[in-house]
Amino acid sequence: MSTIALIVAAGRGERLGSATPKQYLAVAGQPVLRRTARAFLAQPRIDAIRVVTHEADRGFYQAAVGDLDLMAPVAGGASRQESVDRGLESLTGQGVERVLIHDAARPFVAPALIDGVLDALAAAPGAIPALGLNDSLKRGADGRVVAAVDRAGLYRAQTPQAFRFPAILAAHRAAAGRDLSDDAAVAQLAGLDVALTAGSEDNFKITAPADLERAERMLAGAGRVVRVGQGFDVHRFAANRPLVLCGVRVPHDQGLAGHSDADVALHALTDAVLGALAAGDIGDHFPPDDPAWRDARSDRFLAHAVDLVARAGGRVTGLDVTVICERPKIGPHRPAMRRRVAEIAGLDLDQVSVKATTTERLGFTGRGEGIAAQAVATLALPDGP
Ligand code: CTP
Ligand code: MG
Repeated sequence: MSTIALIVAAGRGERLGSATPKQYLAVAGQPVLRRTARAFLAQPRIDAIRVVTHEADRGFYQAAVGDLDLMAPVAGGASRQESVDRGLESLTGQGVERVLIHDAARPFVAPALIDGVLDALAAAPGAIPALGLNDSLKRGADGRVVAAVDRAGLYRAQTPQAFRFPAILAAHRAAAGRDLSDDAAVAQLAGLDVALTAGSEDNFKITAPADLERAERMLAGAGRVVRVGQGFDVHRFAANRPLVLCGVRVPHDQGLAGHSDADVALHALTDAVLGALAAGDIGDHFPPDDPAWRDARSDRFLAHAVDLVARAGGRVTGLDVTVICERPKIGPHRPAMRRRVAEIAGLDLDQVSVKATTTERLGFTGRGEGIAAQAVATLALPDGP
């Protein structure tokens, strides 16, 4: 045990003002503390992690990180400095060489930032990630600018703040009873040399309600994967059959032969959706020898495939089908086909494309023997279990 991450999570989150302390609120379905702890668990250079908690939060702690491989939590104090103090004291006598002190409320700490402070410890007893300022600085009072402040040489300090353990332990003991806002301030008071390393805007501290919204925005779309599937189908022309394409009845002197309504376009789309889901093909779900599907309307097939996507926790994000034939002319029916596909799949119109082409009188479609369709479907699916 030589490098420990000490995550302070004993605060009450008064500025955020929610009944549950902010470190236990879920962001995109996962408690903030869990995200923070997992960021350190993923770091091979960190040997163990201890969280400093508030006595009143035991249930929250268990629910958030009880299943993770962490050291037993210890109780914090009334100020952040006191909480860090308690955490450091709990680590004495175990040969700890380095400690990274981190705010539970900074769940977006990146590996490079952790590496940065750890690397800097080779040359200094302390290192903190920090950012410069881009905005002009003003001193103000009573809603008025009092003075311009030169921003040169000013930094915003973040965490994790890394220290050689014996040095920061001694510094904290010496600073007992103060209310310093971070550990670099404690180190400074003890005359320790603290290096500045690269911070990151993403490593912000969830402090006010707007920060929680920012965190949600950052994670929107995370944990999703895009999957693509393609489908292809052909049906032969037959007399005395209605022609149905994309769920729309198209006036023509022949229809298509098939067990169901033979809607070649919806069949290609159904196979594309099933393909993206890796869920077999249309024949697996609706066996052609099953009398239940005799003359069945093919919108049921596509609706079923879309339903399977929803059951897998995903959604269809795009459908694109090309109908291939010399006749009938598809153009005049395209808007209606697009609307109908969007309706069947529960999509917006701009997520659905229906196209048509001939094959220049070549091949079976060129000779007017049948109609072919090919389709592509894109899905957004949850990433992993
Ligand atoms: N912290 C702590 N013990 C305290 C106060 C703060 O462990 N007595 C922790 C917080 O849980 C947080 C980190 O220190 O992870 C940074 O503090 P801050 O953002 O100020 O959190 P809170 O003190 O909880 O929020 P507030 O100041 O708005 O009440
Ligand atoms: Mg605070």
